[in-house]
Amino acid sequence: MITTLAISGYRSLRDVRVALEPLNVVTGANGAGKSSLYRALRLLADIAQGRIIRALASEGGLVFTLWAGPEQFSREMKAGTQRVQGLVRKKPISLKLGFSTDAYGYAIDLGRPVPDGSMFNADPQIKVESLWVGQVLRARNEIASRKGPGVRIRGEDGAWSQTFTDLSPFDSMMTHAADPGKAVELLRLREMMRNWRFYDHFRTDRDAPARHLQIGTYTPVLASDGSDLAAAIQTIIEIGFVEDLSSAVDDAFPGSKIFVTGDSGYFELEMQQKGLLRPLKAAELSDGTLRYLLLMAALLSPRPPAFMVLNEPEMSLHPDLLPALGRLIAKASERSQILVVSHSHELVDALTAAKATNRIVLEKVLGETEIADNDPPPWEWPSR
Ligand SMILES: Nc1ncnc2c1ncn2[C@@H]1O[C@H](COP(=O)(O)OP(=O)(O)OP(=O)(O)O)[C@@H](O)[C@H]1O
Ligand SMILES: [Mg+2]
Repeated sequence: MITTLAISGYRSLRDVRVALEPLNVVTGANGAGKSSLYRALRLLADIAQGRIIRALASEGGLVFTLWAGPEQFSREMKAGTQRVQGLVRKKPISLKLGFSTDAYGYAIDLGRPVPDGSMFNADPQIKVESLWVGQVLRARNEIASRKGPGVRIRGEDGAWSQTFTDLSPFDSMMTHAADPGKAVELLRLREMMRNWRFYDHFRTDRDAPARHLQIGTYTPVLASDGSDLAAAIQTIIEIGFVEDLSSAVDDAFPGSKIFVTGDSGYFELEMQQKGLLRPLKAAELSDGTLRYLLLMAALLSPRPPAFMVLNEPEMSLHPDLLPALGRLIAKASERSQILVVSHSHELVDALTAAKATNRIVLEKVLGETEIADNDPPPWEWPSR
């Protein structure tokens, strides 16, 4: 389980440290920083997939992703007696992301390249990475350390050995130094990060992939665009939490049933609703109904991930459906750690009613995201 999340210098998240629990919900007003927190989590996952630099570039590069305010707010700026202005920077420009679990912690620090005439000088570079045992980084519990092009790994005898001297600034030690022999912890943590699952705005328009006939193949994990919904539902029916599936359908749409029909390898989802003489096909379902079924297939995956993140799952759902969705998410959080980003009070209330929920309420103070009533967990960034 992820116990701590730390973000520094990313958009409005100038310095955020927050403790996570099995079920978490991130809320806050428009512009408070919810989407930024969601994207920061995705960036962490991108490291393990070897695409962090590309992901940052697709957001406009470091210039746009870095915190746009001053390095520090003076007491006078906070009190409003002094204009907010950039003071002389004490530290280099950096974007830092990190997390720790019960067993390990990891952090990355990205910065600007040293100008060398290359046309890729706008690309951010990985300056420092660190992996440690336990919650908080200390000199004695660090087991892998990257500084610039060098990677050092600590062996079982406690001695450091240099495993890389020429790692590219755009390659992470997570993907390039995770050796099953010398650095098995790196490998373990990377695999854990690769297993994190993100669901963000399923399409439900007329041409949405979930509405089409689909090739029916064994699907324990719903695709992020929902294109294999019918196969994912059939997989749950055959090898998964089939009782949870029928009760989740009945909870949201009393008296309804869903099933999958197949013809020459192509699957189609159908739903029998109360009062109708024939079942409706996925193409005929309402946007809200289809979105609920997509979320259900994601949450009842027979191969639950260690960590699942849902971005605004309430989109286009009627408030009447939210209590059922809250119960479904609470149920799923018995199998996976879950973080929901939401601006729906109804969903937050439904979650809280269903299970003890860690409410992370974001607020914006002088352009900076702060967390209400937060007791920040201990955290140390690796130094450059
Ligand atoms: N580089 C940056 N530095 C500082 N603030 C930024 C930067 N880029 C964007 N912001 C601001 O950060 C704030 C948080 O944005 P974000 O999209 O995370 O809000 P949100 O909580 O998802 O809001 P909504 O509910 O409207 O979607 C916005 O006010 C945005 O203008
Ligand atoms: Mg948003």
